[in-house]
Amino acid sequence: MKNILQQIAKKLVENGKGILAADESTATITKRFSQINLQSTPESRRNYREMLFSTKDAMESYISGVILFDETIRQDCQDGGKLIDLLISTDTLIGIKVDTGAKSLALFEDETITEGLDGLRERLIEYSQLGASFAKWRAVISITDKTPTDYAIQTNAHALARYAALCQENGLVPIVEPEILMDSDKSVHTIDSCYEVTSKTLDIVFDKLIKAGVDLNGIILKPNMVIAGIHSPNQASEIEIAEQTLKCLKNHMPDTVPGVCFLSGGQNDIDATKHLSIMNKMKDFDIKLSFSYGRALQQSALMAWGGKDANIIKAQQAFRHRAHMNSLATKGEWSENLEK
Ligand code: 13P
Repeated sequence: MKNILQQIAKKLVENGKGILAADESTATITKRFSQINLQSTPESRRNYREMLFSTKDAMESYISGVILFDETIRQDCQDGGKLIDLLISTDTLIGIKVDTGAKSLALFEDETITEGLDGLRERLIEYSQLGASFAKWRAVISITDKTPTDYAIQTNAHALARYAALCQENGLVPIVEPEILMDSDKSVHTIDSCYEVTSKTLDIVFDKLIKAGVDLNGIILKPNMVIAGIHSPNQASEIEIAEQTLKCLKNHMPDTVPGVCFLSGGQNDIDATKHLSIMNKMKDFDIKLSFSYGRALQQSALMAWGGKDANIIKAQQAFRHRAHMNSLATKGEWSENLEK
């Protein structure tokens, strides 16, 4: 079992490939569709995701795995085949979001705890039978003048560790995602406070993972980059973001972890690619740095599509382009002029 987990984890970050996070909950994808005035129905969600997954060359060349939402893993393509078979045909690993969302943390204002542990073992067994080989759980930490509290970090890390152990017990690689939000509205979220909170969070998460018996060779870490909040008046330079993120990972992540797939977290498409590329150019350790982007891989495709069949080719071109740019970034080979 251990070996299989390690192989899956390695495959997720090899050969210039990364992960497409297409696991938006129904509420989140509905919000995304509202930007193009498209009603969110099971059919429109299926059509949109089928459009992305059938960009065959991009999927084959740049995408190692896709994270799905529960609805999607069960859906059929327009021609009646299974969506997951479409993914398997491009040698894409199937991932599944298994948390049930970040809920208010009782008695702790402005903090959340991610739920979904009850019945998780049974759900993982079913997802594995449906074809999933990895899973995702996202914990959310926010930086304000009063948060994060130590308790919020501890309790979210504890849930991540229980989730990760259950995944490995059932043969799925856990993507461990402790996200320090960058889009909170607080100016106290500077790159320095982000460094501090990300470091502390990683320390606690890895402590809990180790205590839970999780094999760190068989996980993927999905962290935020160390970056100022979008409302901070003091934005850091791209070099500073890359340096601080690398330093944080080097000092607070055990070197047995096979790969890091960053979330984009609200960075614009090009910044998310640029920062990843600079880090890959600068890094002096072996751990692979790749992407597990949602918005930064999808936003331009969603806009080009606009919900219309007539725009599918244009939308797939946009998706292919972003996937290609991020693939180059995993090797530190991206440059601004390739965006023209
Ligand atoms: P973003 O890249 O849009 O932040 O989404 C990644 C993700 O899966 C968050 O859980």
